[in-house]
Amino acid sequence: MKTIQLGKTNLTVPVVAVGCMGFTRLDKTDAERFVKTALDFGANFFDHADIYGGGRSEEIFAAAAAGVPREKLILQTKCGIRPGVAFDFSKRHILASVDGSLKRLKTGYIDVLLLHRPDALVEPEEVAEAFDALQKAGKVRHFGVSNQNPFQIQLLQRFVKQPIAANQLQLSIAHAQMITAGMRVNMADGAAIDRDGSVLDFCRLHDITVQPWSPFQYGFFEGVFLDNPKFPALNAKLNEIAAAYKVTATTVVMAWLLRHPAKMQPVTGTTKTERLKDCVRAADIVLSREEWYEIYLAAGNTLP
Ligand SMILES: NC(=O)c1ccc[n+]([C@@H]2O[C@H](COP(=O)([O-])OP(=O)(O)OC[C@H]3O[C@@H](n4cnc5c(N)ncnc54)[C@H](OP(=O)(O)O)[C@@H]3O)[C@@H](O)[C@H]2O)c1
Repeated sequence: MKTIQLGKTNLTVPVVAVGCMGFTRLDKTDAERFVKTALDFGANFFDHADIYGGGRSEEIFAAAAAGVPREKLILQTKCGIRPGVAFDFSKRHILASVDGSLKRLKTGYIDVLLLHRPDALVEPEEVAEAFDALQKAGKVRHFGVSNQNPFQIQLLQRFVKQPIAANQLQLSIAHAQMITAGMRVNMADGAAIDRDGSVLDFCRLHDITVQPWSPFQYGFFEGVFLDNPKFPALNAKLNEIAAAYKVTATTVVMAWLLRHPAKMQPVTGTTKTERLKDCVRAADIVLSREEWYEIYLAAGNTLP
């Protein structure tokens, strides 16, 4: 599969990442089949979090990938959400979370660790200490964030010496505010509201890889927009372009994200091998400028 450099690191990663949040839906056999299929496609970048399935997702993945040499896998996980409690970027919590993930993933190191969702009580000096300790111990190789705006990243980066390699953000054709606001600078309408501090441009400017999450969903986990009667124009356009390229609409959805010159690494959430195959195929398709905008508009977005 096509690859990119992750942020400013020397880590080469496939352009499509495999999200493992839904792994609890897989039994042992299906999980093994899914991981094997992903690897056969060159999709060896797996996105985890300590909280997915309460830790079960990491365990199911580790069991499924048991026979795979560690160097063939790129493992990313996240920490900082404490379900039912709050957010916690304290040194103590970060270190404990990573130890938990290492154990569940049955590995000696994590390739990329992301801070999952901003902690209002973050003390960046503590994050820096935690990152240093994890790097020195060889437990984590690269670091990044998720759902953070430019000032939050800059605040961290004032103390953290490792470059922030990635920012995982919700982004799909049907949830594209960060793209929309950038085209409506200084306009008076609601769509012009910059809700994220121009995070997309900031990440491009600082070589931080954007990893779109929920590439097939709209709203906050409201559902998939494909074949959804709420999005008739979008589905008609996706199907029309899919037919022209002889691929599925799923492929076109991923190709739309990959066409953006920010060199993003979308994270798929499917647990179905057939859909994963369609997602991976997107790496071989380059949509035209006209097609990209037609899809954007078909989702109900408008231009100034
Ligand atoms: N950083 C964060 O805050 C954050 C938040 C959420 C998720 N994530 C990461 O991002 C990954 C992706 O997120 P997601 O699971 O919400 O994304 P998604 O790829 O949009 O998938 C959402 C669900 O829709 C189904 N689906 C996927 N493609 C489909 C298609 N073409 N047609 C119909 N249904 C389809 C999948 O179920 P099937 O298994 O049935 O295909 C999947 O569970 C997660 O696994 C996780 O690693 C990160």
